[in-house]
Amino acid sequence: MSWEVVPPLGACVAPVLATTGSQAGDVPRETAPPPPDPATVARERMVRMLGLRDQPPLPAPEHPRLVAVANQKGGVGKTTTAVNLAAGLALQGSRVLVVDMDPQGNASTALDLPHEPGTPGVYDVLVGGEPLDGAVQEVPGIPLLWGISASVDLAGAEIELVSQVAREGRLRKALREYLATHEKRHGRLDYVIIDCPPSLGLLTLNALVAADEVLIPLQTEYYALEGLSHLMGTVALIQEHLNPGLRITGILLTMYDGRTKLAPQVADEVRSHFPERVLDTAIPRTVRVSEAPSYGQTVLQYDPASPGARAYLAAAREFAGGAIDLTDDPGREDQTPLSPGSPQGDTPRAETADV
Ligand SMILES: Nc1ncnc2c1ncn2[C@@H]1O[C@H](COP(=O)(O)OP(=O)(O)OP(=O)(O)O)[C@@H](O)[C@H]1O
Ligand SMILES: [Mg+2]
Repeated sequence: MSWEVVPPLGACVAPVLATTGSQAGDVPRETAPPPPDPATVARERMVRMLGLRDQPPLPAPEHPRLVAVANQKGGVGKTTTAVNLAAGLALQGSRVLVVDMDPQGNASTALDLPHEPGTPGVYDVLVGGEPLDGAVQEVPGIPLLWGISASVDLAGAEIELVSQVAREGRLRKALREYLATHEKRHGRLDYVIIDCPPSLGLLTLNALVAADEVLIPLQTEYYALEGLSHLMGTVALIQEHLNPGLRITGILLTMYDGRTKLAPQVADEVRSHFPERVLDTAIPRTVRVSEAPSYGQTVLQYDPASPGARAYLAAAREFAGGAIDLTDDPGREDQTPLSPGSPQGDTPRAETADV
């Protein structure tokens, strides 16, 4: 008779436990997952609230579009438009560079770009003849968006440039040289958005010579059209003498307050003068748009669900050639048509939006 030796249960189990390191006294090796990166969380929230996952990507332009946001009138929404349009394009997949040509540095503030005197920026490019490459910074919180800041040093450039050779073509030359560098490092730029100061001096001239297109923000108020003929005249002169390819490709109505009788009247008048050029999207006057820069953010980051953020997103898509119809989107509760015929402003929903 033969006996089969069956080892005791413990003899089988013990070696297994030993290899897994779970013997009494061992500390569990599982570690808690690292806390999510706040920037990633903020970006995901923005993408979700803007409904970007449901949108098809923007059509890529055939070649980089160089756009000057210009109007010699002060406070009409040039900077607000430059930064929010740029953010709207970048968040929808375009590669965008913002150039701050205004010594006030407002676009740099809104994009949270360092711009203390001495920071490499537009001044070094225009006056120092430095390559643009050393002045380009990544915009925090928005992938695919880069910026070149302006410091107060730039205020002196108007005078310092007077004695320089080819003074009105310096930004154009620097930008054209830079495009290939950007393409090699980060992929081809789709848009360069240049924020102009409120004047038609050498800084704006540099922007208009560098650009292929002009986007004119017009504040929807009584004097909206005043000064526009002067700007049109300047553009015509630049076309004739310095930049034959320059075109006015858009007029964007800003600070549209649909609660007033005046806003729709002004909008109608502007549209009747320039039927082809006025964007269907008008930007509502909202507190959120004006608050965002004080947090170093675009309104798309600051309050993605607000009417101002959605309007700039729609304007970006329209400008890129793929208009959004927000009224047809059943997934969003806060529908407000974006045409100037519809009242917009600080709606109660905007006030309660989570910030
Ligand atoms: N849609 C809007 N709703 C509410 N406030 C707005 C809106 N757009 C712009 N503003 C505010 O209006 C003011 C002027 O806007 P912005 O700085 O963009 O104009 P600008 O044309 O760039 O001015 P400047 O000529 O001084 O460069 C700012 O305080 C800005 O926050
Ligand atoms: Mg400005």
